[in-house]
Amino acid sequence: MDHFDYRDGVLYGEDIPLTQVAERFGTPCYVYSRATLERHYRAYSEALSGHPHLICYAVKANSNLAVLNLLARLGAGFDIVSVGELERVLAAGGDPAKVVFSGVAKQRHEMARALEVGIKCFNVESLAELERLDQVAGECRETARVSLRVNPDVDARTHPYISTGLKANKFGIPVDQAFDIYARAAEFAHLEVVGIDCHIGSQLTELAPFIAALDRLLLLLDRLAERGIHVEHLDLGGGLGVPYHGETPPAPYDYARALLERLAQWDSQRKLTLLFEPGRSIAANAGVLLTRVEYLKPGEEKNFAVIDAGMNDLIRPSLYQAWQMILPVDTRKPRDSARYDVVGPVCETGDFLGKDRDLAIAAGDLLAVRSAGAYGFVMASNYNSRPRPAEVMIDGERLHLVRQRESVESLWAGEALLPPTAVESR
Ligand code: LLP
Repeated sequence: MDHFDYRDGVLYGEDIPLTQVAERFGTPCYVYSRATLERHYRAYSEALSGHPHLICYAVKANSNLAVLNLLARLGAGFDIVSVGELERVLAAGGDPAKVVFSGVAKQRHEMARALEVGIKCFNVESLAELERLDQVAGECRETARVSLRVNPDVDARTHPYISTGLKANKFGIPVDQAFDIYARAAEFAHLEVVGIDCHIGSQLTELAPFIAALDRLLLLLDRLAERGIHVEHLDLGGGLGVPYHGETPPAPYDYARALLERLAQWDSQRKLTLLFEPGRSIAANAGVLLTRVEYLKPGEEKNFAVIDAGMNDLIRPSLYQAWQMILPVDTRKPRDSARYDVVGPVCETGDFLGKDRDLAIAAGDLLAVRSAGAYGFVMASNYNSRPRPAEVMIDGERLHLVRQRESVESLWAGEALLPPTAVESR
């Protein structure tokens, strides 16, 4: 459920017509709904109430400060993958003690900064990383709290680019090596083992792979307990899918129930704190990309609707052949319907936001690309020297600009010309 609906033929975000957003801030423009973000966060927190838990929103999905600040105010923790994300969380008022740090390539300076601000836990992905972290923690005179990210070798049955829990993927410590590496971890002077972690992929639409991964982790926890190694928390990562195109992923409530049931069967005495790292299921359907039709280009084989947003603004359709719904914002004027490929201004044939879409539109009309709140702006680039779009958050009847549209001048900020002699003296 989200808060983007038609009223009298016009698409609204909460109580604001999207036509008004375009008038004030131009297009292309990302538009987020505060109420939807809150609703999705609460779907998790309410599903887990009564069980110790922490919801660590995956910052990579949408790292706008206003989004992070809103979630921090609701009590969220954060899953980060770089020092840049850590600084964003801090700038947005997030609590470092609720931050978990994932990612396969943590650098020394990133570890040091995370130790300095006192994050909750490092999700460690290899023995080499464990050794580096122990060294850095020693140098900083700190103890690093760690969780091992276990790769359970479970097929998440999602797009291969976003499947992460198979042996062939670069992520995590293979489940059959994890026991030995836990035993090693317990011996390091500057590390404290506090958790176990996995993240098997993104946009999962069924429960079975999550449960299969959980079962493998629980077996490992049993073996570790026999060895005297106990953890406080179990982090099951993110990955819950959203409906883009008729998918029916489990709701957070059903997901949480299934996991809690399985945990109770495993050991009803042990109350491990549950951590989740949801990104998409909180942010995706809380945002749309608002864009305008520049030209209609009828053709023999294809009709093209050429819009002012391209693959540089929203890369998911080009990169993963992702399908996202495209809707006209104002349906009040009569229009002929036709089938279009909805394409952007970028000089690549792969620059499309939708293919074979039946739309009743004319040049100048506004369109909304739905489910764009996650992995939208954060993956935008300046390719073709296109400034990145503005971001706007609707809160009821109020409209807040939460990131200015980039200026053309900002595109070369930080670049430098060669001194004249470098060219003339040759
Ligand atoms: N935790 C870890 C360690 C992750 O790698 C990810 C996502 C998440 C949590 C959040 O997963 P979510 O709840 O959002 O599924 N750009 C792709 C998605 C990449 C996901 C990467 N990792 C897309 O647009 O589909």
